[in-house]
Amino acid sequence: MTHAVTPFPDGFLWGASTAAHQIEGNNTNSDWWRKEIAGAVKEPSLDACDSYHRWREDMDLLAGLGFTDYRFSIEWARIEPAPGHFSRAELAHYRRMVEGAVERGLRPMVTLHHFTVPQWFEDRGGWTANGAVELFERYVRATAPVIAEDVRHVCTINEPNMISVIAGLAKSGEHGFPPAGLPTPDEDTTKAVIAAHHAARAAVKEINPGIQVGWSVANQVYQALPGAEDVTAAYRHGREDVFIEAARGDDWIGVQSYTRTRIGTDGPIPAPADAERTLTQWEYYPAAVGHALRHTAEIVGDVPLVVTENGIAAADDARRVDYYTGALHEVARAIEDGLDVRGYLAWSALDNYEWGSYEPTFGLIAVDPETFERTPKPSAHWLGGIGRSRELPRAAG
Ligand code: NOJ
Repeated sequence: MTHAVTPFPDGFLWGASTAAHQIEGNNTNSDWWRKEIAGAVKEPSLDACDSYHRWREDMDLLAGLGFTDYRFSIEWARIEPAPGHFSRAELAHYRRMVEGAVERGLRPMVTLHHFTVPQWFEDRGGWTANGAVELFERYVRATAPVIAEDVRHVCTINEPNMISVIAGLAKSGEHGFPPAGLPTPDEDTTKAVIAAHHAARAAVKEINPGIQVGWSVANQVYQALPGAEDVTAAYRHGREDVFIEAARGDDWIGVQSYTRTRIGTDGPIPAPADAERTLTQWEYYPAAVGHALRHTAEIVGDVPLVVTENGIAAADDARRVDYYTGALHEVARAIEDGLDVRGYLAWSALDNYEWGSYEPTFGLIAVDPETFERTPKPSAHWLGGIGRSRELPRAAG
């Protein structure tokens, strides 16, 4: 059973997302590589999906499956291996990817920064050191050969709120990827990444005023239990809303959501014991994206919304189809209610390196860790097919 006509408007972005460090492999000049090799996380990324060499195969598959859009990131640590030295070869590499996407009928959305920074940037103090924002801006200007043509959407910084939370966590001596954005964010990092976004937005517009610039914010879908409304609002403010507010005046804002976080009067409370959990241990909650879209719209005002990530880490691919079915109906309902949603990009195209571990498999496409052979899962055919048929299957049950 399907709706006869898709609720998704013309020009709607329909695709999948990835990030350089999670799929390329051997991102040896990055801060994460160093942390991984030092043993700070469960396992290192090493070759990842070898997409640095196999990006053509990735794009062939995505286009063949029915997707029209591909969000990928370009790697600062490769493009600027030493301060002020920009690699022409790496810029040419990413330019080939942009052209390769367009040749295959995939519109590229290019993320300029997706969690990883060059080691030298980290060594000089990271985001809160003097001159950090200017250094990021210089890097963004240097990406002109990659993005000046054929790129309609640029995401400056992925999940700035998670960057701030990770920095807060590091101050307390812990490293790695925090659970659901809950620890206290670092305020100086928040200020720096917001300034970096605004500087990058202006720099990209100078490169090509036609590029639609935005950034993508992680939404935890904070839900107040009775009596905990004020606690929840306070909790949400520094972890989410300040970053959404910083997108006012952007061309679009990216909405990324996976699960929900319930807040009681004493703070976050765990999911009910009988709740289904995904491989990341997050509560299975496909409705999250609808809440995230509505909350974002409420805070940001009149800025178009793009779902730049949404998905589930699951070994059983049938749960992925079920999750996407529920999520897409939420997106459709949001559009019917008048929200200006311009696209849906699933996380993720490939099973990839989930910041410390290969265990949580978010991919629509499986990757053999030894041969790197790619195998689209049934969910990939199903989701890609919606792009082709423009019909949204009815929710199960
Ligand atoms: C958000 C991040 O942008 C991405 O890198 C990560 O893999 C997914 N969430 C899943 O945790």
